Amino acid sequence: MTEQRYLLTARSIVKSFGPTSVLRGFDLSIAPGEVHAFLGGNGAGKSTLIKIISGQFDRDSGTLEFDGQEIGASVGAHVAAGTIAVVNQELALLPHLSVAENIAMPRLRRGTARYSERASMEIAIEALSLIDPQFAHESSGRLVGGLTLHERQLVEIARALGSGAKLLLLDEPTANLTAAETLRLFTVIRRLIADTGLAVLFVSHRMREIRQIADVCTIIRDGKTAVDRVALDAITDREIIECMGQSVVVDEAAASVAESAELEHAAQPSTQTSAVAAHGGALRIERDGVAIEVPAGAIIGLAGAPVGPSSLIDALTGIAPAGSWAITRDGTRVSYPHPSAGARDGVGFVSGDRSNKGVLATLPIVDNLVAAARVVKRRSVVKRDEVKQSSALLDALKIRAGSLWDLPATLSGGTQQKLLIARWLLLRPRLLVLEEPTRGVDIRTKREIYALIRKMAQQGTTIVWWSTEYIELVELCDTVLAFDLDGKPTEVLRHADVNETQLAAATGMAA
Ligand SMILES: Nc1ncnc2c1ncn2[C@@H]1O[C@H](COP(=O)(O)OP(=O)(O)O)[C@@H](O)[C@H]1O
Ligand SMILES: [Mg+2]
Repeated sequence: MTEQRYLLTARSIVKSFGPTSVLRGFDLSIAPGEVHAFLGGNGAGKSTLIKIISGQFDRDSGTLEFDGQEIGASVGAHVAAGTIAVVNQELALLPHLSVAENIAMPRLRRGTARYSERASMEIAIEALSLIDPQFAHESSGRLVGGLTLHERQLVEIARALGSGAKLLLLDEPTANLTAAETLRLFTVIRRLIADTGLAVLFVSHRMREIRQIADVCTIIRDGKTAVDRVALDAITDREIIECMGQSVVVDEAAASVAESAELEHAAQPSTQTSAVAAHGGALRIERDGVAIEVPAGAIIGLAGAPVGPSSLIDALTGIAPAGSWAITRDGTRVSYPHPSAGARDGVGFVSGDRSNKGVLATLPIVDNLVAAARVVKRRSVVKRDEVKQSSALLDALKIRAGSLWDLPATLSGGTQQKLLIARWLLLRPRLLVLEEPTRGVDIRTKREIYALIRKMAQQGTTIVWWSTEYIELVELCDTVLAFDLDGKPTEVLRHADVNETQLAAATGMAA
């Protein structure tokens, strides 16, 4: 019997960041031509391993074998040549440059060719054609800043792939994509594999998606390999969740967070914010003859294609004028000229665009936590009581952070999301508007976020929550407002009457 030849074998990989030991002897083998799902909880070390395989991080110990050769310092060379292509969780294109420039720059810099617009167009079209010839011609001249997230991802993949690409590492590529965009990405991946025979390592938290695209999975837990190359046909969702070390019991995680006395303490509003904490009466939202009454402390779900929910969210928060929406509180019209006016009136907002409109990437964690309070209190420095509150909040929310003064990039994506919600917890807003707060977040953190939302609602904050995962809306919302594909509100569904099938019918979209 001959041993299977692997394209990549990582053995006993160890990696710590200061006192945080992330990988503790982790093993992973990838076979040529396969789609390999790499699964694990938030902060388990998936992105760290991907950065080690792609030479962005040094490992403390362990070996990497690629294509039959031990690779040490030469990982970087494989990545530069595009034999190993990586698209990180945080996309890395320059928005003010064109697609062609973004793709061509690194190659022109490496080679001897001189930069010219024509040369960069040729390089970009050739690289993008591997992915989608039509898209190659349409997009090369456009600015990256004007592309959708899905299009940017395709550009990143094209940029990373060299002509002899053998391994593509995709770190949560679908986390911010719609269902339709995800399918398009999968079509691209399948075609790439058929054309080039490359192998793909793929990180995702969505079970259904993993089953659609992946052949085998490896699960990381406690820094080690909990499941090693198991065929997806041979493992159930429940087993996967259990192997990730995540409780299958919803209420367990919820209880631990919701009943946490520290959370209660950390969330005590300081005197300056009591004006914001004074919760007013019911909100009434109406458009096109569909009206919804929202009592304080209710959880309202928004379901449907982005156009509808986002028009309401914009109107509620002051991002854009109310347009056809009529929003009143106790009979008085509510409208804000800009989001900070909304914030000062007790309206919190967590954008679905976590990295561009949520996390302040260049400021420490503590600044991220007090960011909303600063707007409300018109204050520019972090006060000592805020530091104290912030660290109590981190403990209560089980946010594992090295220090309050670290940058948010040291936290996993799900943890960053908790940070964005925690930002509002300190202020007890009367209304908190959430855009897909659990997108791209692992199951345990999702449950913590649910618990947090429930807790805030119990304290009197009204929640308006847009989610594309209907099951979340069905389980957590008192009322769901459904929108059709043109963005018109169609139906108001009460908790007792709402189920996923009905939501799919009311919105014209499957979750
Ligand atoms: N550059 C870094 N500096 C310090 N700690 C880091 C850094 N990158 C990741 N970490 C820590 O390593 C752990 C694993 O993170 P990560 O690999 O991003 O997890 P995953 O991708 O599985 O969610 C987390 O606790 C995170 O805080
Ligand atoms: Mg990650």
